[in-house]
Parts: sequence; structure tokens; C-alpha cells
Amino acid sequence: MPFQIIIEKASLKHIDAIAEIERSSFVAPWSRKMLLSELEGHDFSHAYIAKIQEDPTKKPVIAGYIFFWSVADEIHIINIAVHPKFRKMGIGRRLIQVALDYGRKTGARHAFLEVRVSNLNAQHLYTKMGFKVTGMRRGYYTDNREDALVMKYVFENDKNQKPEFGSQNLEDSKF
Ligand SMILES: CC(C)(COP(=O)(O)OP(=O)(O)OC[C@H]1O[C@@H](n2cnc3c(N)ncnc32)[C@H](O)[C@@H]1OP(=O)(O)O)[C@@H](O)C(=O)NCCC(=O)NCCS
Repeated sequence: MPFQIIIEKASLKHIDAIAEIERSSFVAPWSRKMLLSELEGHDFSHAYIAKIQEDPTKKPVIAGYIFFWSVADEIHIINIAVHPKFRKMGIGRRLIQVALDYGRKTGARHAFLEVRVSNLNAQHLYTKMGFKVTGMRRGYYTDNREDALVMKYVFENDKNQKPEFGSQNLEDSKF
């Protein structure tokens, strides 16, 4: 069945849906306080949701989100999740694209993220998007002392590629 993915800037009104996806996605989910702190926003922090509309007669539902920071010339992807019901539909890819397009528009040179060594699904996604493993943080995750891979995206390497959403205003756009 055809479906539409709608990207919007996240705000406090989305916190319940985000918290539910967070709980269904992580063994050590962010607390409501942590989500609030990101959604209330700092100059450097950004949050977007992906809504999915499977049936044009119904309201779109929140299917995933991304939080990232833009600091100096770096983008740091600090959280991304898609509701289990809506995985493998291209939503994670679209959300990463939002962060990368923001980086392109603002002249970032690199994007970074950390991922559990056991999280192969996420690693596949990041590798497909052009991230490469550049390091490891031993015992980074406090719940089970699991190591994190550090993955990096170099914007210079894609300078010949057309940004997928580059001409849009990310502050209020739906695309
Ligand atoms: C990781 C996650 C965000 C991916 O979201 P998604 O919407 O399912 O990803 P997409 O549908 O956009 O997939 C894009 C690519 O990612 C890879 N991928 C995603 N899910 C995968 C899976 N279950 N198995 C293998 N590869 C997978 C594939 O390469 C896929 O490309 P393809 O469809 O051309 O094969 C989602 O699985 C999730 O929320 N996981 C739990 C939370 C989490 O681990 N977050 C990341 C923390 S670092």
C-alpha cells in the first residue's frame, strides 16, 4: 500500500508519542526529563519527527524521530528511533537525511554518532548513508558496559551530490 512520510520539527506536544517509541526501541530508554530537555531546545539542539500516512482518510501517525546537535562545524546525531511497526520502510533513512541536509545547509564538515557494537541494523543504515567507523569507545553504554562504535560522515565527500531536501526550510517544512 502506498504511504507518505511527512517530516516536521518536533515540539513538546509530541513528547508522549516520542516517549512511547523510545520505550519500545531501547533497553535503556531516555527518561521523560531527558526528552523534555532536548525538546525544550537549546540553540544547538534539533529534533524532528517522521509521521506516516498510510490511509489518506486518517490522520498521520508519529512513526519515528531524530535528535541531533549542531556544534561548530559538526553534526552529532544523539538519538534516532522508528516505531517497530514502521521499520524497514525507509523512515530511518529519511530522518538521517534530515540531519545531513541540515549539516550541508549550515556548512558542517563532519557528522558523528555512536552505535552499540551489537546493533547491526542501525550500523547497516549508517553505512548505507555513507558513515564509516572511525573509532570505538570501550564500555560506553552504562547498562551493560557494551562498547560503542564511533561512526563519521564527511560532508566533503558528497559535495557532488544534490542534497535531497537541501532547498527546503527545515524549521517548518513538510516533505
Ligand atoms: C535503526 C532504525 C532507526 C532503522 O530505521 P528503519 O526505518 O527501519 O530504517 P530504514 O527502513 O530507513 O532502512 C534503511 C537501511 O537500514 C538498514 N536496515 C534497517 N533495518 C534493518 C534490519 N532490520 N536489518 C538489516 N538492515 C536494516 C538497511 O540497510 C536499510 O536499507 P534497505 O532497506 O535498502 O536494505 C530502527 O531499526 C530502530 O529504530 N531501531 C531501534 C532504535 C535504534 O537502534 N536506534 C539507533 C541507535 S544508534
